[in-house]
Amino acid sequence: MNVYDSARMADVLAPLGYSPVEEAKDADLIILNTCHIREKAAEKVFSDLGRLHGLKIANRALIAVAGCVAQAEGEEIVRRAPYVDMVFGPQTYHRLPEMLARLDRRRGAAAAPLVDTEFPPEPKFDHLPEAAQPPGVSAFLSIQEGCDKFCAFCVVPYTRGPEYSRPAADIESEARRLIDAGAREITLLGQNVNAYRGAAAEGGTAGLAALIRRLARIEGLARIRYTTSHPRDVDDALVAAHANEPKLMPHLHLPVQSGSDRILAAMNRGHRVDAYLRIVERLRRARGDIALTSDFIVGFPGESEHDFALTLALVREVRYATAFSFKYSPRPGTPASLIEDQVPEAEKETRLQALQTLLREQQNEFNAACVGRVMPVLLEKAGRRAGQYVGRSPYLQAVHLTPGDAGGQPIGRIVETRIVGAGPNSLAGTLVVAAARECARLEA
Ligand code: 5AD
Ligand code: SF4
Repeated sequence: MNVYDSARMADVLAPLGYSPVEEAKDADLIILNTCHIREKAAEKVFSDLGRLHGLKIANRALIAVAGCVAQAEGEEIVRRAPYVDMVFGPQTYHRLPEMLARLDRRRGAAAAPLVDTEFPPEPKFDHLPEAAQPPGVSAFLSIQEGCDKFCAFCVVPYTRGPEYSRPAADIESEARRLIDAGAREITLLGQNVNAYRGAAAEGGTAGLAALIRRLARIEGLARIRYTTSHPRDVDDALVAAHANEPKLMPHLHLPVQSGSDRILAAMNRGHRVDAYLRIVERLRRARGDIALTSDFIVGFPGESEHDFALTLALVREVRYATAFSFKYSPRPGTPASLIEDQVPEAEKETRLQALQTLLREQQNEFNAACVGRVMPVLLEKAGRRAGQYVGRSPYLQAVHLTPGDAGGQPIGRIVETRIVGAGPNSLAGTLVVAAARECARLEA
């Protein structure tokens, strides 16, 4: 979502003459678009700011802090780093031109920095211009923002605000523009993407499955993905979409966080382990080859050895294609940060290592099971070796094609590829026509 927001900030700034540069030292305006989800991410902002202060002195660059750290810390940022010129949250970046104009008027007057961390009543999406940069083969499209779930560990409901869904017609227009500009795959984004309920063109509201069906009608759009989903919002229509909509990719990121009902309740997740397993079963019945990925938190306050063992058991039962796992990080203002019974850091570390070892094994198994299969690969970019292309499998794995293989196939083409090798993080493949040519040569 931050990648999407950063691109939109560039769009907002383009009419003012700003364009992205590769290095901070060449910039007139430096925006740190920040993440507050765990303490490590948030603290990184202040170390980065320290480094940028030097550039500001040398180049007179303006420095802005955007995103969720800005939203959560507001004035505290300028207290700790008084050389910051602007602080604004994820819901107000459409006002960047106005903020810059205000700063410009005050330039040299040693005025206080601008801090804008409101949740404005009007959605920012109505104020964003058309994209200034081409999106690439695989594009992000934000359809929903915010969260009303209030998991006990999470800052998102406080930093991103309440759930908001964009009208389906606006999303479709943006999707069409992305396709016209060269995108072939669109990933629909939302903190709670499957809680999507947007105004439908024909009146009433549409859920995520209806939106996917609508977007699937766009010619030129080859692949649809969505992230991140919540188990509570997986409905029959969404499961059916995985069975019936060929453009919807067989991959679902469905965070579960823990395999212990006791911890799920303490986390305020609103679902139990068996409900999660039933969803997995329904999805696999709908689409046998669906790849499942997830997020896990270890060391949530009060998590016992037994609770953690239940998480490992859940992972063994589901068999994930890959997953993200994190040590619980207390976040200011969240209910879980006030619980006395915090798990010691060393214990969190031990559990994280055990979980990650298991998840790595599953990832290796998932990748190895792809070897020998033929699958459609969307060519995304040139590889590091001469004549090599890199693409994506339907399951989101990176596929490195044999150099020379895809010669003449433009980026953005979907090519039938035989998977010939698997590593921990990517696959190796040969174009099926090239493989056939090689067989014919060997037979001759
Ligand atoms: N500590 C550790 N991990 C967290 N996440 C969210 N909040 C925290 C926290 N306080 C993880 C969850 C979520 C992912 C985006 O980040 O697993 O799904
Ligand atoms: Fe955070 Fe996701 Fe829970 Fe919302 S549903 S509070 S974004 S973890």
